[in-house]
Amino acid sequence: MSNIEGKVVAITGASSGIGESAARHLAKKGARVVLGARRTDKLEKIVKEIRAEGGTAEFRPLDVTSRESVDDFVQFAEKTFGKLDVVVNNAGLMPLSPLEALKVDEWDRMVDVNIKGVLYGIAAGLPIMKRQGHGQFINISSVAGHKVFPSGAVYCGTKFAVNAISEGLRAENADIRVTVVSPGATESELADTITHGETRAMIDQLRELAIPAQAIADAIGFAIEQPDNVDVNEIIVRPTAQPL
Ligand SMILES: NC(=O)c1ccc[n+]([C@@H]2O[C@H](COP(=O)([O-])OP(=O)(O)OC[C@H]3O[C@@H](n4cnc5c(N)ncnc54)[C@H](OP(=O)(O)O)[C@@H]3O)[C@@H](O)[C@H]2O)c1
Repeated sequence: MSNIEGKVVAITGASSGIGESAARHLAKKGARVVLGARRTDKLEKIVKEIRAEGGTAEFRPLDVTSRESVDDFVQFAEKTFGKLDVVVNNAGLMPLSPLEALKVDEWDRMVDVNIKGVLYGIAAGLPIMKRQGHGQFINISSVAGHKVFPSGAVYCGTKFAVNAISEGLRAENADIRVTVVSPGATESELADTITHGETRAMIDQLRELAIPAQAIADAIGFAIEQPDNVDVNEIIVRPTAQPL
């Protein structure tokens, strides 16, 4: 039996891209998945399709910028299925721009979703996992959490923060597994959040190399299916030809 089967996995940002792909993939492997995001019409459709293929899935409206909403989402997963094995902190946005453009509202938004959203996911899941004596966080970072590039100062900063927070979480908790998955260019809606024209053109060109979101879902599945005493802490998955 796979070490994914029967696990309860709550996934933030599951209405498109990597989160959606992870939900479909893990459900196929027998996980009971709980999908959260703001676009509930999309979640409803994905859940219906997962169930039609024999999977077990639920959804709940979620805004990761609200601590109450994240608590409600994670508690919903535990109450519905009686336990919580994995939280995938995946929700994120990437409105890249040079600092000089002073898109301060977008900086705020990235800090709120990419950093605080992950912290709220930890705050909601950690007490449950400590009570159970086991659990796993999978935090989605980026190659931008390893390298800083022009127009990426704030986005990279948020992803470096995800790496640091994840390492602290790991070091403090001998009973909890912590995995950082860092994708390179991956097919999704992420570039749609870029409002700076020149940067969007540069990223659109880079994204011609993009790999399917399934490649990241596979990495998430790999980290979950390891034996309980094996903690895969970091995975970088990028297109072979991606220079950055
Ligand atoms: N695609 C890439 O090339 C790439 C590379 C490196 C890292 N990543 C990371 O991968 C993660 C997933 O992104 P993606 O590429 O799959 O992009 P995506 O298709 O745009 O998905 C982003 C998801 O985050 C959700 N989200 C955004 N704001 C939210 C909020 N306030 N509350 C709850 N959910 C929210 C969106 O759902 P709603 O809009 O419905 O709320 C959506 O489901 C992000 O953390 C991103 O930084 C992606």
